[in-house]
Amino acid sequence: MKIVVVGATGLVGRAVVAALEARHEIVSVSRRSPVRADLRDLASLGGLFETAPDAVVCCAANVPLRPLGDLTAEQVADDLRGKLLGQVELARLSAERLPAGGSITLTGGTFTEPIPGSGLGALVNAGLESFVRSVGAERPHGPRINVVSPGWIRETLEAMGEDGAGGTSVAVVAEAYRELVEGDARGTTVVPR
Ligand SMILES: NC(=O)c1ccc[n+]([C@@H]2O[C@H](COP(=O)([O-])OP(=O)(O)OC[C@H]3O[C@@H](n4cnc5c(N)ncnc54)[C@H](OP(=O)(O)O)[C@@H]3O)[C@@H](O)[C@H]2O)c1
Repeated sequence: MKIVVVGATGLVGRAVVAALEARHEIVSVSRRSPVRADLRDLASLGGLFETAPDAVVCCAANVPLRPLGDLTAEQVADDLRGKLLGQVELARLSAERLPAGGSITLTGGTFTEPIPGSGLGALVNAGLESFVRSVGAERPHGPRINVVSPGWIRETLEAMGEDGAGGTSVAVVAEAYRELVEGDARGTTVVPR
C-alpha cells in the first residue's frame, strides 16, 4: 500500500514509519517535510490525496496541558482546531477519496486519571473515540477508520526526566497502528499496552 503518515517526523510517527516501511510505500508529512500539511489549516489537507494513497495514518498535533483557568477562548479554539477538527477533516476526506479497502488511523490519547490541565486533551480524545465509533457503524463498507489512544509513552516520560517504567514503549504503540492499517477493524479505539 501507499500510506500517508502525517506527523512522520515525531516520536510516534518515526516508529510508525519504521513498523510499516518494509512492506509499504510511505509518504512522510508534517508542517516542515517536503510533502507538507498543517492540521490547523484544513485547506492544506486535501493536497495529501493527490499522492493517491491507499491508507492514511495521523500521529500529529498535540493538545498542551493547560488548566481551565489559564485558557483563553482563542487557545481553546486553536487546540480543538488541530488535533480534533484537523483529524476529523482528514477522516472526511479519506472517506471520499481512499479506495474501499483503505483505512485512516487517527491518534487520541488516554489519561488513566485526570491530571492538572488535561481537560481539553480529554475532550479531544473522547471526541475522537466517539467519532470513529459512530462513523464506523454508519459506514460498514468503504475505507475503515480507527483511533489509537496511547497513555504516556515511555520515551516521552524519560525525555521529561521522569520514570519511564509506567509508560508504554513507542515500539508497542507503533505496532497498534500497523495492526489497524493491515487488519480489518473499523470504528475501534485501541489502547496499546
Ligand atoms: N508522546 C506521548 O506520550 C503521547 C501519549 C499519548 C498520545 N500522544 C499523541 O500522539 C501524537 C504524536 O505525539 P508525539 O509524542 O509523537 O509528538 P511529537 O514528537 O511532537 O511529533 C509530532 C509530529 O507531528 C507534526 N505536527 C505537529 N503539529 C502538526 C500540525 N498542526 N500539522 C501537521 N503536522 C504536525 C510534527 O512535525 P512538524 O513540527 O514538522 O509539523 C511531528 O512530525 C500526538 O497527537 C500526541 O498527543 C502522545
